[in-house]
Amino acid sequence: MRHILDTKDLTREDALRLLDTAQEFADVANRSVPKLPTLRGATMVNLFFEDSTRTRLSFEAAAKRLSADVMTFQVQGSSVSKGESLKDTAQTVEAMGADIIVIRHFSSGAAHRLAHSGWVEASIINAGDGTHEHPTQALLDAATLRNRFVPHSRGADLSGLHVAIVGDIAHSRVARSNVFLLNTLGARVTVVGPPELLPTGVEDWPVTASSELDAVVDEGPDAVMMLRVQRERIKGDFQPASGDYVRNYSLTVDRANRLPERAIVMHPGPMNRGVEIASDVADSPRSVIVDQVRNGVAVRMAALFDVWGETP
Ligand code: CP
Repeated sequence: MRHILDTKDLTREDALRLLDTAQEFADVANRSVPKLPTLRGATMVNLFFEDSTRTRLSFEAAAKRLSADVMTFQVQGSSVSKGESLKDTAQTVEAMGADIIVIRHFSSGAAHRLAHSGWVEASIINAGDGTHEHPTQALLDAATLRNRFVPHSRGADLSGLHVAIVGDIAHSRVARSNVFLLNTLGARVTVVGPPELLPTGVEDWPVTASSELDAVVDEGPDAVMMLRVQRERIKGDFQPASGDYVRNYSLTVDRANRLPERAIVMHPGPMNRGVEIASDVADSPRSVIVDQVRNGVAVRMAALFDVWGETP
């Protein structure tokens, strides 16, 4: 692919190719020298207009494991504070040699804009744009589910799995990307949250929507993906840390104990322990939160490899 911008338009074939490639790259981490020459000569720029720990570092680790050169831009301390536009910033990093631009931006649609505006020739990977999408997060979540539930998983999808995504669905780019990708891969998805944190138009999504976490837990999902309440994106006075939110939507030890034996607990991070997830659940044997981070490096290696193949 030339760019990776969302999962809504990712075909089943593209998604499975990325997951299979990630599976092959995962073994590189176990080598004495965890490096391949695959992207030698390529330069990847992390263009981050919003804070990040996991995504930025794992793209950097992925690029280095494939022998690419890496440059990192963070908005704090940059000339954006002097009024420099996205177009001028992108053209500046491309003039310094960027072949692949990994962009995180507060505006929904920023990655699409960069890919289709003609401003730059580089391949674009969306590392999260506003409340729109975060496609590589969904791919690493799918890789985590596949590793756990689908033996001999090469070429296999996620048919038959039931995934509950719980929390602030309305403001979550992770939820959107997961809903589309899980649907493409054949999984059944239930989104759960208080009515004010379910998105307008959710009835048109390929999901079941619920505001009853206890009822969904008792359905016995294979995976429960907890999401942070994105206070920074919430306008108005809804108080997500209130007792009501924790009582009704937190994955407590009691709720986790009612899940089937096989069920796993996921979270894209960053977590607010004691709010959407109890600390003991986050650290429990059913938690795959650290596996998600680990799989993120292999998935991002696959993403870089995929777009580099078509870089002019
Ligand atoms: N999951 C995720 O995007 O985490 P960061 O914000 O730390 O990159």
